[in-house]
Amino acid sequence: MTKPFLSALCGDRTDPPPVWFMRQAGRYLPEYQALRKRAGSFVDFCLNPEMAAEATMQPIRCFDFDAAIIFADILLIPMAMGQELRFVTGEGPKLSPTASPKNPFHADVDSIVRKLSPVYETVARVRDAAPPEKAVIGFAGAPWTVATYMIAGGSQRDPSETRALYYAEPKFVEDLLDRLADATAAYLDAQIRAGADAVQLFESWAAGLPEELFRRFCIAPAQKICAAVKAAHPETPIICFPKGAGGMLGEYAESVGAEGVGVDTATPLGWARQVLPGHTAIQGALDPLLLIAGGEAMEEEIARQIAALRGRPHIFNLGHGITPQTPPEHVAQAIRAIRSQG
Ligand code: CP3
Repeated sequence: MTKPFLSALCGDRTDPPPVWFMRQAGRYLPEYQALRKRAGSFVDFCLNPEMAAEATMQPIRCFDFDAAIIFADILLIPMAMGQELRFVTGEGPKLSPTASPKNPFHADVDSIVRKLSPVYETVARVRDAAPPEKAVIGFAGAPWTVATYMIAGGSQRDPSETRALYYAEPKFVEDLLDRLADATAAYLDAQIRAGADAVQLFESWAAGLPEELFRRFCIAPAQKICAAVKAAHPETPIICFPKGAGGMLGEYAESVGAEGVGVDTATPLGWARQVLPGHTAIQGALDPLLLIAGGEAMEEEIARQIAALRGRPHIFNLGHGITPQTPPEHVAQAIRAIRSQG
């Protein structure tokens, strides 16, 4: 059974393009809200394979997306490294104590990977439950993004605290990124062994880095992770999403060598197709706020984006995650509009 999502990652253009949405399992769905109430804390939810598999499958059943992304979170790695992780309603994630040169959170890779074994069981359950034409996506946060949460102790307006800490304590930040890269590669390997068809690396805080730091913090760790994953699983495609990479997008894609690259809302698509290698699948980039409005404006923008990437391997997605305010019927409308672009 061919999976349209994997065809795009092999460099094939399909019309209509395959589609999934970042944060497709989430609070905008009444089914998710009901499950969330029963699940206890958000961390308990992520580590309950039965419930996490159910949350993963809800958007597939509701909207027939081409890929199911495992219900988990990028902050499970810091938790497995020894930080306490809590999600406070209205405030987002909290990690304590914060990572610092005095509190570097050394933990060996095997123990980190072992602590996250419920996630691999979720992957296996989703693999069993998903129809054969649907792809299963595993994921992790990229080291720089995860380090910014570890150092800030949770949600942040921007990652300036971590950048400032780097200038004061370069060795600490470099060492943390290196350890995160090793743990992340092993974590993705375990997800692939459990049945993930592809993996995505979320670099949510790529914006604002001076070019040399972008190379050191975003490109080098992604290269290390992709090389390790490719060595173990040469057939498994990788998508990297360096949100806010701006003018560094082309160099990032060339250097990292991922099969797919995510582009954010601010990226001009005509420019992206010039700077990204021709065989690289471009994933994106509908504005999630347009999904709240829905209607004709949304349908026109969907048609415009698909036309802008005509002839190129494209995976339709958002430029960032779905917001909780999104009416589910607009998601259904978006999928119909995408699938009508044959
Ligand atoms: O459907 C999916 O996309 C799969 C699951 C998934 C979640 N988080 C579940 C989640 C994925 C892929 C993530 C990635 C993630 N988590 C990122 C990278 C993508 C991005 O948004 O930039 C980041 C930065 C995080 C960290 C995180 N998790 C934050 C900052 C927050 C709070 C903000 C928010 O949107 O609530 C979370 C919480 C979170 N992760 C929720 C979900 C469904 C909401 C939790 C709830 O139900 O209250």
